[in-house]
Amino acid sequence: MKIFLDTANREYIKKLLPTGVIDGITTNPSLLSKEGSQSKQVLQDICAMVPGPVSIEVVEKHPDAVLKQGREIAQFAKNIVVKIPFALEYMQVIKTLAHEGIPLNITLVFTPLQALMVAKLGVTYISPFLGRWDDIGVDSIDLLEQTVDIKETYDFDSQILAASIRSVLQWQKVAEASADVITVPPAIFEQVFKHPLTERGIAMFDADWQKLGKTSLFE
Ligand code: G3P
Repeated sequence: MKIFLDTANREYIKKLLPTGVIDGITTNPSLLSKEGSQSKQVLQDICAMVPGPVSIEVVEKHPDAVLKQGREIAQFAKNIVVKIPFALEYMQVIKTLAHEGIPLNITLVFTPLQALMVAKLGVTYISPFLGRWDDIGVDSIDLLEQTVDIKETYDFDSQILAASIRSVLQWQKVAEASADVITVPPAIFEQVFKHPLTERGIAMFDADWQKLGKTSLFE
């Protein structure tokens, strides 16, 4: 499973990238807006820091402007993935950009059939928003499993990128559902490393070792 961080916060990226398990970054206009008005600098810094794919979302609305901006975003750095919201009026744009070989991440996907539509266009990533399904009382994991089934049945190349993640339990269920990628907020990523039994175990090992009063392991 590939793991992306769902953030535009450079401090978090700098802190968590050395774990060696983060494969890429996803941003969106909401995440970027939290980092102040210097969006270009923020995105340049992120693309320079992260060797893997960085998703940047279009902010234009008219399909012609989305097409133009999609091409501009694709030129921004070597590791760019252009993020485009799922919409009927963007299907032709998505088809054109996909045919030009631009890696695309189709965002705001809420049903398995929406995923099927853009998988047929050969996009790189399809992002179902699990947390927002759960927020309105729909079982997101059922819908994710159906989406993964459709992808596997028809052998689509697109990768299912589970987004809008709310908890580590949801992350585990996403892994069990065989999603190709997950994008997690930094706070949830960090929670995986916090477990009371792990922390207590480390403290016990240390306390027992200190009883020996030695200064090094091999003295
Ligand atoms: O990448 C965008 C997606 O993860 C948004 O999540 O928490 O705003 O529903 P959220």
